[in-house]
Amino acid sequence: MIGKRNIYLIGPMGSGKSAVGRQLARLLGAPFHDSDSEIERRTGVDIPYIFEQEGESGFRQREHEALGALTRLEPIVLATGGGAVLQAENRRLLAENGCVVYLETSLAQQLQRVGSGRGRPLLHDVDPAERLQRLRTEREPLYREIADYTVSTDHRRVIKVAEQILRDLRGPDAPKPAAGDA
Ligand code: S3P
Repeated sequence: MIGKRNIYLIGPMGSGKSAVGRQLARLLGAPFHDSDSEIERRTGVDIPYIFEQEGESGFRQREHEALGALTRLEPIVLATGGGAVLQAENRRLLAENGCVVYLETSLAQQLQRVGSGRGRPLLHDVDPAERLQRLRTEREPLYREIADYTVSTDHRRVIKVAEQILRDLRGPDAPKPAAGDA
């Protein structure tokens, strides 16, 4: 697969990482993993509960451990949490072990997709537009730093984004899937 055998999706909340990742994995016939789901599986509780009990720093430690385990698997498609790029060590793990795909999205689309922010503790009790904009300012350079490839998910169907990623990563000379595949 595309030089590196893993695809890691990065980008902000509401960029479509999990939805696009699931489609990519299906098209590739590779296992799909999601770092937030892995944290929930390991702890037996949900992400908001972890933030409540351990604060953001406790969550980041657990996220780091989950990414350490997930970046040892191959070949997989991995959807990361929006803040996975904050720690330099996470960025190194992602950059070294997979092809990093940045899902770029406008603030307006993010707001539409995250709705009330349920299940996303960083959006609780704050103005979501303001918070998402602040996170974008902080994190956008970090996404760009490790992205091998960037694609916009604005106003596009999940399947179309997944197909474009595969097409572009494979390059024009790659064999086409047989009719009926995917
Ligand atoms: C976070 C994004 C969430 C989740 C946690 C923190 C962030 O994942 O990891 O709530 O810091 O942006 P999604 O990007 O999948 O919403």
